[in-house]
Amino acid sequence: MKYAIVTGGARGLGLGIVKALLDEKAVERIAVIDLRPAPAPGAIAAQVESFAADVTDEKQVHETVEAITRKYGAHPDVLCNNAGGGEKMWFEHGREGEWETVEVWRRYVDLNLNSVHIMTREVAPRMTSGAVICNTSSIAGMLPTPFLAAYAAAKAGVISYTRTCALQLGPKGIRVNAVAPGLIYTRVWEDLGAALGGAEERARATFEHTVQRLVPLGREQTPEDIGRAVAWLCSERAINVTGQIIAVDGGIVLGPAVR
Ligand SMILES: NC(=O)c1ccc[n+]([C@@H]2O[C@H](COP(=O)([O-])OP(=O)(O)OC[C@H]3O[C@@H](n4cnc5c(N)ncnc54)[C@H](O)[C@@H]3O)[C@@H](O)[C@H]2O)c1
Repeated sequence: MKYAIVTGGARGLGLGIVKALLDEKAVERIAVIDLRPAPAPGAIAAQVESFAADVTDEKQVHETVEAITRKYGAHPDVLCNNAGGGEKMWFEHGREGEWETVEVWRRYVDLNLNSVHIMTREVAPRMTSGAVICNTSSIAGMLPTPFLAAYAAAKAGVISYTRTCALQLGPKGIRVNAVAPGLIYTRVWEDLGAALGGAEERARATFEHTVQRLVPLGREQTPEDIGRAVAWLCSERAINVTGQIIAVDGGIVLGPAVR
């Protein structure tokens, strides 16, 4: 039985990835690692099990991956390092145009970059030929992102790390890719939109304004969009794809929308 480990799979993009991996039959079972686990929706509940752990904590990650491999098999088939983002308080620093404190900088890097290494060094040695890793970077890692310097640096780090791991693990037959999502209205954007817009009730309008300003295709992206791209990268249809960063962003990285 093929199974995947998906971090941050309780909601948002992670849940989109979980649903798509099952929908497209890339795997049959999924172990979600999340700080705040939530029951999977009814239709997929029987195929998904949640494990509570903080992916920035080496000991918790080790114990959780031990528990998962004992239950589902010694050799995970797929790893999606998706947990990341930031907290409302961190975003507010950006809005004020302040330099992020060193403490906030460290927490961004810990959550968005160090966690990817902590998970990968725990899981990759247990993988065998044919296994796949897919990391969640961001368009923020591909473009300068003035309000979110630490987040952008961490996500750029994920891109570099993805390419290095692809080279390192290629001879073992393990593929490593990343997605760079664009603008998706999840909890992250509820908080970021509120911080940038100056009030919680302006979160959605700020988000929509950003979509119109930045997205050549003129529409927001969804967890389903990201999930489908990840499911493809993790399937045998992408058997010759490794070390790639797929932007799922309606064209944002091409440059500002021309209207
Ligand atoms: N929403 C966007 O527009 C967007 C764009 C580009 C990239 N991303 C990236 O996509 C990923 C998912 O973001 P989202 O928008 O779905 O956010 P979200 O906040 O809705 O979901 C994040 C999930 O990760 C979990 N999580 C957070 N910290 C954790 C930790 N330390 N250990 C374990 N689990 C933890 C949360 O509990 C939550 O279930 C992140 O890496 C984010 O940076 C999001």
